[in-house]
Amino acid sequence: MPDSAPHKSDSFNWTLTDHFHIGPVRLANRLVQAPMAGVTGRAFRLQALRFGAGLAATEMVSSYGIHYRNRRTTEMLKLTAAEHPVVLQLFGDKPAIMAEAAVAAEQAGADIIDINMGCSVRKVVKTGAGVALMKNEDLAAGIMAAMVDAVSVPVIAKMRAGFSRVTAPSMARRMAAAGAAAIGIHPRTGLQGWRGRADHAVTARVAGEVDIPVIASGDVNGAEDLRLLLAEAGAAAVMVGRAALGNPWIYGDMLAGRKPHRRDLPDVLTEMGRFYEDVKAEMGEDRARRHMRKFYGWYLAPFAPRGELRSALLRAESFDEAVELAGRELA
Ligand SMILES: Cc1cc2nc3c(=O)[nH]c(=O)nc-3n(C[C@H](O)[C@H](O)[C@H](O)COP(=O)(O)O)c2cc1C
Repeated sequence: MPDSAPHKSDSFNWTLTDHFHIGPVRLANRLVQAPMAGVTGRAFRLQALRFGAGLAATEMVSSYGIHYRNRRTTEMLKLTAAEHPVVLQLFGDKPAIMAEAAVAAEQAGADIIDINMGCSVRKVVKTGAGVALMKNEDLAAGIMAAMVDAVSVPVIAKMRAGFSRVTAPSMARRMAAAGAAAIGIHPRTGLQGWRGRADHAVTARVAGEVDIPVIASGDVNGAEDLRLLLAEAGAAAVMVGRAALGNPWIYGDMLAGRKPHRRDLPDVLTEMGRFYEDVKAEMGEDRARRHMRKFYGWYLAPFAPRGELRSALLRAESFDEAVELAGRELA
């Protein structure tokens, strides 16, 4: 760590179960549920908090969708009393529109607002949003400043290592100067996509640049060597993304310092049912049935379902039918 960042000494001593702050918002521990588009709806956020995450995160929400009052986007803004603390993520490329969206997010009850600077999907990048912002420090800092000005809740930015090369350290400095209350970093470049491993040496460089908390995202799969990873990287907290798909128990395992382990089939089916009830309450039975299809594979992966079962699950007319099938075939 550079000498210019003496506060960093604190980050060598924390454990996952210690509380921390993002701006004035107190978070009970240092485990954050990562935002995942198409996945982290209300049911997923409630589940993450039930299982111990200190902060839940929405999926990315379009600032233009809010501006134009798109029906689906407006639905994504709905936050219930039970899903706090929650960070609501926005994507866009225009300071004024992002500031307007931030006001709507604050009114919706978001505890923290996050700027998406990591999405590498073509549809988003070609509009200049997501990871495309990593190419334009002035614009990104302008967006941050406009949002910070517009709301009183903390605004943070979740970035990648860079667009095609590593630029996150200088970007993080600019964002902090523009008023960011924390930086999330998934240290792969946009061009890299999902290849290779997350390079947390970049996280360490980012943490060395700024005085605000840095949240490390990428390949965090368990408590094993986690503390070492984060002590070396100097991050204040970690995000769990894919490792929690179908395995919400991972939050508790990590907080307890246990090696993550999968649960037995009856426990998994029971939790899947609980999750389904929340999905149904959120989106109604028809959409819920379709939404659940992507989760069956994640929940049942440890039980190695055969191809026939997989396709039968996707064809199931109802959630109950899917559970019955899984219970019968995998028992
Ligand atoms: C299906 C999926 C959707 C994602 N959507 C978002 C998103 O909307 N916003 C965002 O900042 N990151 C998104 N990410 C990136 C994750 O938040 C996280 O940074 C990344 O998956 C690396 O962490 P992991 O190895 O723990 O999964 C997404 C990842 C996945 C797998």
